[in-house]
Amino acid sequence: MTDDLAALAAATEAEIAAAADLRALDAVRVAALGRSGSLTRLLKELGTLPPEQRRERGAALNALKQRLEAALEARRAVLEEAALAARLAAERQDMSLPPPPAPVGAIHPINRTMEELTAIFGAMGFRVVEGPDIEGDWFNFGALNIPEHHPARQEQDTFYLPGQGPDGRPLLLRTQTSPLQIRTMLREAPPLRIIAPGRTYRADHDATHSPMFHQVEGLVIDRGITLGHLKGCLIDFLRAFFGIADLPVRFRASHFPFTEPSMEVDIGWNRQTGQLGAGEDWLEILGSGMVHPRVFANCGLDPREWQGFAFGMGIERITMLKHGMTDLRPFFEGDLRWLRHYGSSPFAPAALHEGL
Ligand code: DAH
Repeated sequence: MTDDLAALAAATEAEIAAAADLRALDAVRVAALGRSGSLTRLLKELGTLPPEQRRERGAALNALKQRLEAALEARRAVLEEAALAARLAAERQDMSLPPPPAPVGAIHPINRTMEELTAIFGAMGFRVVEGPDIEGDWFNFGALNIPEHHPARQEQDTFYLPGQGPDGRPLLLRTQTSPLQIRTMLREAPPLRIIAPGRTYRADHDATHSPMFHQVEGLVIDRGITLGHLKGCLIDFLRAFFGIADLPVRFRASHFPFTEPSMEVDIGWNRQTGQLGAGEDWLEILGSGMVHPRVFANCGLDPREWQGFAFGMGIERITMLKHGMTDLRPFFEGDLRWLRHYGSSPFAPAALHEGL
């Protein structure tokens, strides 16, 4: 090797050894072997040499190139290993540390009540069905024996929508979950045992009314169903839901167009303290009755063969009573303080109280 090449080799090998990281090493490679590197320049100059010198010089340059490449490669392996070791040390995780507390959400009281309804009625053999919020006038009123000029149509302060349904009749936001009685009887053959929790809408807004609220509908259809079944089912439900095994329950004659006879159901409470199951006062809690023969007929069922009962109640109302809430509006305001206070843990199963 000529002196100039020996000097180049020694200088470059010293730089390779001194390169402290991969970036510095790459700079050394570029300076020697890059497009305008020192060794590359010498290789390019080969062409200017007389042929007899070219051969020997060429062999020496190539040998040097290979030697430097091998040195670069060896240094790269060392530096890569060091970089990996440094990273492993820096990113070391102490698996014995307890994790930081994760934020825990809460189940909204409306959803929790729906879960409880599903659990309690589920234990009695009921299934959950759902239907559309936008309903046809026939499903919401007509099929339920609420005729065209019946006062219930005004009482329920209906939100009508533009346009009309496939039957040419008005479309509306359902004012009750009762249309699920019709939809279920039209779709499925009895015997039936369903509940239908969901949103309902009425043009009404104050401390105890919201234009959107929730109801749950119940329907049982079978042969030989009597008022006794209705009473037993609802007494069991109310005692289970409120968690009061001897909750007083009273059935009071009333009127709904889709049931005959119809009954409102009251529970015992103390009006002064708000305590349920105590005191001398009665609180109306739900509507119910035996399915009207005309409703059966509207769904193509023969009321001489099939009997049934239905009931409906407001989900906010039973939730407020159960938890001693006095104002309906916070249900829909999304105030985190309220939600944390009244929300329940997603890990706690819906309570199934004694009495079932
Ligand atoms: N749909 C009624 C309402 O919104 C509640 C109701 C009463 C439902 C009696 C029923 C029933 O199924 O039998 O006020």
